[in-house]
Amino acid sequence: MNIQENIDLTHCNTFGLPVKSQYFYKLTDKNDLAKLVEHPIFKNNKILFLGGGSNIIFAPDFLGLTVFMSNKGVKVVEQQEDSVIIEAQAGENWHNFVLSTIRLGLNGLENLSLIPGTVGASPVQNIGAYGVEVKDVIEKVECFDLETQEWLLLTNTECRFDYRDSIFKQHNGRYVITSVYFKLSKTFIPKVSYGLLKQYLGSQETALSAKTVSEAICQIRQEKLPNPERIGNAGSFFKNPIISANQAKDILALYPNAVHYHQPDGMIKFAAGWLIEEAGLKGVSVGGAAVHQKQALVLINQDHASVEDVKSLAKMVQKTILYKYGLSLEAEPLFVE
Ligand code: EPU
Repeated sequence: MNIQENIDLTHCNTFGLPVKSQYFYKLTDKNDLAKLVEHPIFKNNKILFLGGGSNIIFAPDFLGLTVFMSNKGVKVVEQQEDSVIIEAQAGENWHNFVLSTIRLGLNGLENLSLIPGTVGASPVQNIGAYGVEVKDVIEKVECFDLETQEWLLLTNTECRFDYRDSIFKQHNGRYVITSVYFKLSKTFIPKVSYGLLKQYLGSQETALSAKTVSEAICQIRQEKLPNPERIGNAGSFFKNPIISANQAKDILALYPNAVHYHQPDGMIKFAAGWLIEEAGLKGVSVGGAAVHQKQALVLINQDHASVEDVKSLAKMVQKTILYKYGLSLEAEPLFVE
């Protein structure tokens, strides 16, 4: 087994934080997992399974073994009357995978275009954007349970998906996702009611298809969200808080313009970006980390930020929001210690 030592991970996390891993292993074939888990370095160290590193904040140095999920491959496993089951290996780049399904004439992933990261990471936080969550099209998830040492094929229900949440996040470190099965439709059913998307497509002349929706979403994301290849970031840094209708009433009495959405269960979800902007935090920085000017929910690596800069800035935003609105903001990325 080629386990390397003292490896720089600056380019393995989209925030571009200067971190090193004591041990590093690139997993290109899921069948190597069985051997890896028996290795003394695996048995005696903390383990981190890493995908695209787009939702992770490291401690300055990771004392343990980083397993970089790099197994590749996409195949159609079942043709149904109006849909196709397609299996993608965990190490596939998410956006390239989305584009490949659109090229195959399949529909369902177009709204999730240009999300950084890998296929294997997509179920962990149930990635979502522009009115679609990945749970809407996941059929099952193949994973290795490190606790019982068993291979599992979890159904969509067994994955316990919720807003930016799943069994994989609830039991962080227990399941190694090796591939994901998606059920994609042969028919295009547009999901374009999300405000900005509707506005954008309204001004277009071309007919709607998965390809045109994907292109529109790429445009919208490029306008609002920093490209991690140029400006380090981890996408939304906080979840949008979901609170009871009673608590929401108090906030809305003081801030009637606060952007909010009614949830099917009667709870209210607030747009944290709006709350952060209203609190005057856009552009505010701590060391090299800053609140993004165009989307306040995104923290960026403005100028050689350290892990501590990012953590201090996040704490400052959380404290301000708690003080101003009485709301707790939960961080979205995983913090690795
Ligand atoms: N808003 C502001 N100021 C800001 C940012 C947002 O007023 O600085 C307002 C917007 O005008 C809008 C509302 O807040 O009315 C919502 O903003 P946006 O459409 O940008 O979406 P979001 O709720 O901030 C969520 C996801 C994003 C996803 C977008 C689009 C979360 C935590 N984030 O952001 O996902 O791309 O919706 O669907 O749910 C991610 O998770 O990394 C991510 C980028």
